[in-house]
Amino acid sequence: MCGIVGYVGFREATDVLLEGLRRLEYRGYDSAGVAVKVNGHLEVIKKAGKLQVLADELKAHPLSGKFGVGHTRWATHGAPTDPNAHPHMTEQGDIAVIHNGIIENYLPLKEGLIARGHIFTSETDSEVLAHLIEEKYQGNLAEAVRMALSEAYGAYALVVAHKDKEEIVVARTVSPLVIGLGGGENFVASDVPALLPYTRKVIFLHDGDMAVITREGVTVSDLAGNPVEREVVTVEWDLEAAEKSGYPHYMLKEIYEQPRVLENTLGGRLHQEEATVELNLKLDPRQYHKVHIVACGTAYYAAWVGKYLIESLARIPVEVEVASEYRYRDPVVDSKTLAIAISQSGETIDTLEGLREAKRKGAGTLGVINAKGSSITREVDDTLYIHAGPEIGVASTKAYMAMLAAMGLVAVWMGRSKGTLKPEVAQEFLGEMRKLPRLVEEGLEARAHIAKIAEKYHQAQDYLFLGRHIQAPTAYEGALKLKEISYIHAEAYPAGEMKHGPIALIDERLPVVVLATESPFYEKTISNIQEVRARGGRVIAVATKGDNEVKRFAQDVIYVPKTHHLLAPVVSVVPLQLLAYETAVFLGRDVDQPRNLAKSVTVE
Ligand code: M6R
Repeated sequence: MCGIVGYVGFREATDVLLEGLRRLEYRGYDSAGVAVKVNGHLEVIKKAGKLQVLADELKAHPLSGKFGVGHTRWATHGAPTDPNAHPHMTEQGDIAVIHNGIIENYLPLKEGLIARGHIFTSETDSEVLAHLIEEKYQGNLAEAVRMALSEAYGAYALVVAHKDKEEIVVARTVSPLVIGLGGGENFVASDVPALLPYTRKVIFLHDGDMAVITREGVTVSDLAGNPVEREVVTVEWDLEAAEKSGYPHYMLKEIYEQPRVLENTLGGRLHQEEATVELNLKLDPRQYHKVHIVACGTAYYAAWVGKYLIESLARIPVEVEVASEYRYRDPVVDSKTLAIAISQSGETIDTLEGLREAKRKGAGTLGVINAKGSSITREVDDTLYIHAGPEIGVASTKAYMAMLAAMGLVAVWMGRSKGTLKPEVAQEFLGEMRKLPRLVEEGLEARAHIAKIAEKYHQAQDYLFLGRHIQAPTAYEGALKLKEISYIHAEAYPAGEMKHGPIALIDERLPVVVLATESPFYEKTISNIQEVRARGGRVIAVATKGDNEVKRFAQDVIYVPKTHHLLAPVVSVVPLQLLAYETAVFLGRDVDQPRNLAKSVTVE
C-alpha cells in the first residue's frame, strides 16, 4: 500500500524517483508526488491520478537536483486529490514528509497542532507528522523524527527530508522499508523492484528501526537512538524479472511464467525415489497435532487447498481462516498447534497479526512466503520460500501457483515426518507433482479458445463459479480474479451448496463456471451441472482432457491436462486466470492496476 522512493547521490533525483515509483505503482496508483532539493530549497510537485500525470507535469516543469523523495499513494484518509498526495510539507517548505500506513491518533494530534498555529493543507493523517517534526526540529532531523514518533502511534513507513540537510531520515513500524546501498549514492524504497536498476545490496529495516541515509552511508538505530546492526542482503531477483518483457501486461507475463515458477518452487526439494521432500526446516511436524493456516485474498484460497492436501496426505486436522477474522476470535491454540501464514508479500498486516496471535498462544510458526526478508519471515520460526520471483500484477497469479505447489510439499513433509503418509503414496504424489510444470505449460495453449469464451460472455453482469472438495477454493479464486480485474460481479460456491440458495440466481443470462475435473466427486459435479442447465444457466466446464461426456451438458468446455485429483487446482486455475484476463482486456479494463486495489495491504 503506497510506494515510497528516496534518493541521495549523484544522479538526477527525479529520474531515480520516477523510475522507482513506476516499479512500485502496483502498490498504489491514485496520486503521486516528489520533493527534490533544488538550489537549497525543497521543490514539490504532486498530482492526483496515475503516475504518468506526475511524469507529464515534471516534463513540463523539471526539477533538477541530486536528492529527493517520492510517493505513489493508495488513499486511506482523504480522497485522491492533489493536496492529499504526498509529500506533505510544512508551512515554510522546510520539511517534506512521506508516509505509508495510518497514524491512529492523528485527530488529537491535529487538534493540538492547529491550536498551536499550524495550518493544514490536506485531509490526511500523514500531514500531522510533518508539523510535529517541524515543532521538534532544532537542527537534528533524526532527533526531531524520533521525538515526533514518540507522540504518534499506528503504522508507518516514514521518509523525511529537510532543506538544510543532505540526508533522508526514515523509520518503520509495520509498513515495510528497504534501503538500497550504492557507491556514492544510497536509496530507500518500500519494495525491492524500485532498487533493482541500481543495486542488489539491500538492508530490510525491522519494525521499530530508524535510519539516516546520506551519500556516504547508512546508520540504523532503534527509535530510542541506540545503534542496531542489520544484515546487508544480496537480492537474487534480476531486473528482467521485474519488467514486462514484451507482454502487454505484467499479469499476462506472470501467468506465462507459471511453469518456470513451479520449477523454482519444487526444484531440488522433491525426492520421489526416497518418497521425501527436503525443505530445510527446523520445525518438527511430530510435535504438532493440528494446523492453523492464516492468509488473505488469493493466499487464503491457497491455504484452503493446503487444508485438503494436509488432511488428505498427512491426516492432521487443519483449520483455515481469513486472517482478519482469525486474529479477533480468540482461536484455540496451544503448543501442539503449527500456525502457517501464507503470503506473497510477507507484509499483509492481517496475516502478520493473525500469526502473532497464534504465536502469543504458544504455536510453532511457519511462513510460506514469496518476498525475501519481509516482515512475516522475521517473526516465524521457519520460512518456506515459494520462489515465485517479483509479482507486479495486482491480481495475483504466479504467487498462487507457487503457494499451491509449496502446500503440496508441506503436506508431504508433514505426512512423511509423522509417518501418516505411506512411502508409496508419497512417491506417486511426488511423481505427479514433478509433472506439473509441463502440464501447466500445456494448459496455457488453451488461451485462444478461452479468449473466445471471454468474448462470448463479456456482457454478463454476474458470473457464478462452482467446485467441489479441493476445487471449491479454485472456484473462489476464479471468481476473485474475475471481480478484481473485469469488475464483473462473481460469486463462488462449493458446488453442492448451490441448491441451498444460489440456485435462485440461475437464468439464461448467468454464465456458470464449473470445475468438473476428474475426481472421486466427478459424477456429483455433473449432477450440479445438470441442475444449472435445467434452469437455463449457461455452463462453462473446466474438465480433464479426454472427457467427452461433459460436452453433453456444458455449452463450453475448457480442457486441462490430467493430473492427480489433489493437484487439479494447479492446472485448473490457469484457464480461470486467462478467462479473467481476456474478459478484462475485452472490456478495456486496467489489468495491472485495477481500481481501488493495492498489491500489498499493510493497513487493517
Ligand atoms: O501479499 P499477500 O499474499 O499476503 O496478499 C494477500 C491478498 O491481499 C492478495 O492475495 C489479494 O487478494 C490479491 N489482490 C489477489 O489477486
